[in-house]
Amino acid sequence: MRLSRDSHNQRRSELDMAYRWLLPSANMSWNPFARSWRNNVQLELEQYQMNAPKLIDTARTLVASDKGLLAMDESNPTCNKRFAKLEIPQTVEARRAYRELLVTTRGLGEWISGAILYDETIRQQKKDGTPFVKVLADAGIFVGIKLDTGAKDMAGHAGEKITEGLDGLRDRLAEYARMGASFAKWRAVIAVGDGIPSQACIDANAHALARYAGLCQEAGLVPIVEPEVLMDGAHTLERCAEVTEQVLRTVFHQLYVQGVMLEGMILKPNMVLPGLTCPRQVPVDEVADATVNCLLRAVPAAVAGIAFLSGGQSAELASARLNAMNVRFKFRQPWALAFSFARAIQQPALDIWQGKEANVQAAQQALYHRARCNSAARKGEYSAAMECA
Ligand code: 13P
Repeated sequence: MRLSRDSHNQRRSELDMAYRWLLPSANMSWNPFARSWRNNVQLELEQYQMNAPKLIDTARTLVASDKGLLAMDESNPTCNKRFAKLEIPQTVEARRAYRELLVTTRGLGEWISGAILYDETIRQQKKDGTPFVKVLADAGIFVGIKLDTGAKDMAGHAGEKITEGLDGLRDRLAEYARMGASFAKWRAVIAVGDGIPSQACIDANAHALARYAGLCQEAGLVPIVEPEVLMDGAHTLERCAEVTEQVLRTVFHQLYVQGVMLEGMILKPNMVLPGLTCPRQVPVDEVADATVNCLLRAVPAAVAGIAFLSGGQSAELASARLNAMNVRFKFRQPWALAFSFARAIQQPALDIWQGKEANVQAAQQALYHRARCNSAARKGEYSAAMECA
């Protein structure tokens, strides 16, 4: 299934032909090769018939209408860390209440097409008992699920991580699909520093991303493929561009090898930025040019869409940089350039909420505002003036 739309149609008719004319004789055959060929053809055809149109449709809808994704899938430890900074209790109930605040924000579906949830959250409900999955569906927002189980230290590679979570993934996917998830996310992290990233780290993470993506498509869920080159460090914009291109080329090679259908997936990359402690920080337009030029070199046009992570940028900068990309590359970009932010869309709301019921409405207004700003950035219509309105 590693095909452009035209070659997809061609492959489908080949399979149809094989199914109709050759299968009966293979069925009769005593030859084990013919029987195994029959099984493979049948399996591939079933997957085509069941999943390809649905995957393509979901992937396109997720990046349509100038909307983007709300990443609210922080693991419990990450969520607790963010709560601790604001002295919010780190309990199941506090996490539930915060996620209720997010999903019940009135009008969120005007700007947000999908919300990515964590395992704990997809099983939770509003205080009145309504499941979050239903609240989101009623708002016209697709439900997504984080599938990786975190980035762990990589053996023999100091300072580098490998993302885990492939064991038992097929069964977990089936459960999440039954619960109403229609897309998923897996994040790999690549650190930049002295002598890193190593090819070993890039290869291992790209391989895991591709295996995850293949399993998602088999289960009918659109995979969001997130290889994040981290902002930490003193590296330059040029070094980030070089590493990002190397990572993306490796990831797309692995996606090809594993037979992932590009039309039925979304890429979630980092923007190309200088490291946080690099002495030369750069203007918004330079980030936009470096980012999209890198993507144009390394990302096939067949990919359904691109939705950036924010990576620790401020909310306003993330919007301004996304806006500049959509202004400057309006007529050259083969894919939608959208957003799938966590911190850059949630942080202002979390800062206002502080765990207090009395702050819920103001926090929801802040979330709505950021979602609206980022949707404007998709159209190239965001401006700093929107922040004062
Ligand atoms: P940030 O936007 O905070 O980088 O998070 C995106 C995300 O979903 C990380 O997996």
